[in-house]
Amino acid sequence: MRKVLALTGAGLLTVIAVAHAQQKPAVDPAKADAAVKAAFANAPADWVPRLTPDETMRRCSQTRNKPGKATAAAIEKRERATIEYPADGNFIGDWKKGEALAQNGYGLRFTDYPPRRASGGNCYACHQLTKKEVSYGTLGPSLLEYGKLRDYKPEAIKAAYEKIYNSHAVLACSNMPRFGTNKILTIDQIKDAVALLMSPDSPVNKGQ
Ligand code: HEC
Repeated sequence: MRKVLALTGAGLLTVIAVAHAQQKPAVDPAKADAAVKAAFANAPADWVPRLTPDETMRRCSQTRNKPGKATAAAIEKRERATIEYPADGNFIGDWKKGEALAQNGYGLRFTDYPPRRASGGNCYACHQLTKKEVSYGTLGPSLLEYGKLRDYKPEAIKAAYEKIYNSHAVLACSNMPRFGTNKILTIDQIKDAVALLMSPDSPVNKGQ
């Protein structure tokens, strides 16, 4: 399946910031914001909030993804406070649904408005997860044998849930979307993604 990255305005700014990390800011940030807004002039109304960087995106852009210790700690604390946990305390869903979710890049693109079905996680766009799937991105680390390498420990399972729910709670200026906080995925879908990473019988851990 072809995977297309859906970038938000804020995400776009982050990518620009990463690309120019070595350079001095040549453009006034207010001008950059205005240019992004102008580029999406015909965007549907429900896109508009996505074009306005929140406090975290703003701080990461301002510091070119290298916030000082205190700023990073403040970002991580604020983002962690947004994490909602499964009511029954169980972090593991269905890895088969998780694999379908990881393959699915539907959601948040121009052609996906108005939404006609649930968004996917598009995990393969940035991660290797299984040996069978040879088309994957490398922006994120390989997640092959993720659970096995962590002995399926309960703390590692909880940490995986938190990372997927809100990656910025773990790394202030992460390049991974905040799937739970930004309502891209539901709690149940995040549990399915955790199952893919953390079930001994999933292809991630069987090296398939
Ligand atoms: C836009 C790219 C992107 C997408 C899409 C993405 N990730 Fe990530 N992910 C990253 C990056 C980059 C990192 C490395 C650290 C960081 O920047 O947060 C990462 C780190 C992780 C980690 C922690 C790895 C470690 O070393 O412990 C996990 C777990 C993870 N991602 C799972 C997922 C899952 C599951 C999905 C799909 C629901 C997903 N990611 C989608 C970019 C992405």
